[in-house]
Amino acid sequence: MTNPSLLILAGDGIGPEVMTEVRKVIDWFGAKRDLKFDVSEDLVGGCAYDKHGTPLHDDTMAKAQEVDAVLLGAVGGPKYDTLDFSVKPERGLLRLRKEMDLYANLRPAQCFDALADFSSLKKDVVAGLDIMIVRELTSGIYFGEPRGIIEEGNERVGINTQRYTESEIDRVARSAFELAMRRDKKLCSMEKANVMESGVLWREVVTEVAKDYPEVELSHMYADAGAMQLCRWPKQFDVIVTDNLFGDLLSDAAAMLTGSLGMLPSASLGAPMANGRPKALYEPVHGSAPDIAGQGKANPIACVLSFAMALRYSFDQGDEATRLEQAIEKVLADGYRTADLLGEEGKQPVSTSEMGDAIVAALDASL
Ligand code: NAI
Ligand code: MG
Repeated sequence: MTNPSLLILAGDGIGPEVMTEVRKVIDWFGAKRDLKFDVSEDLVGGCAYDKHGTPLHDDTMAKAQEVDAVLLGAVGGPKYDTLDFSVKPERGLLRLRKEMDLYANLRPAQCFDALADFSSLKKDVVAGLDIMIVRELTSGIYFGEPRGIIEEGNERVGINTQRYTESEIDRVARSAFELAMRRDKKLCSMEKANVMESGVLWREVVTEVAKDYPEVELSHMYADAGAMQLCRWPKQFDVIVTDNLFGDLLSDAAAMLTGSLGMLPSASLGAPMANGRPKALYEPVHGSAPDIAGQGKANPIACVLSFAMALRYSFDQGDEATRLEQAIEKVLADGYRTADLLGEEGKQPVSTSEMGDAIVAALDASL
């Protein structure tokens, strides 16, 4: 049997720095768990523009379509701010998401006990929190037509259109139900069926899909009420599925329940490939952090947790993903903190590579 394939696109800024630490973890699983990957590396974002004049070369795009999973660092930086929109680093990422048709964006909000004090919410509200928001990523109001700014009478009118087809709702709902089956079998669907027809259809289609998942307890909530409930008592949720716009807001809000941008992973999944695995792109939520790039200050945990998601959702290695998450939990409990996790405390932070080494040592200790 051939090894599963992984394409690494480290990108710009802190992307390569955090990816170096992920490589240590990947190597550890190869050496100690006999979990070997065929890893290839390529360019995306500003570094690809520097070399090829485009933020994503066609060959890289073709490779991304073939591998079992793509792991991406971050793209962008001030050096590229003045580039034409068509070749900006972010376009490389957008092209990947679009051409791989990654319609389900998974954003966990997970609270590591050692960081519960770090949240802006009370400790007992967030301690042990582990929820997953599934955001529809390829349709909805960010893409719907008509759109634009038009003249009407003697004023301008800005227009965007929320548009969802039945099949678009069906497929993201299925992703969410599949996920719920692997977790606590609880799914809450959020829309605004009270004021939006697209929300009415959303609720109908999700309810129809639920018939294929009788074990999953489905509930519906208006998205504004959902936002309140997320702040009030987030632990009532397991998996949440929602559209592109509401998902953008709710996932950012939920993520911050748990602390730093340096801790947040994500997965974007598409349709199953011939081997049954979904097309998949894993990446930290954060950007290229030019303010700290090149200084060894970046927190690699968001990117390491993104690899843990790859283990779970692309490679059927849920137990090994849990092992990795527990190693991170241990490192945090032992007091390791990169600068972003220290807040106003006057403690000395560990560097990016010290954090990576500590995670590998904790993995060793798990055997
Ligand atoms: P950012 O996420 O890069 O940084 C925001 C703040 O969080 C900064 O103070 C940064 O130092 C800190 N931060 C981010 N990740 C961290 C980590 N792992 N460890 C410690 N601190 C961390 O967002 P910003 O500043 O808005 O954008 C910077 C560049 O990144 C821009 O060019 C932007 O377009 C790009 N970007 C790329 C994304 C991607 O590749 N997916 C997402 C967001 C922004
Ligand atoms: Mg956002």
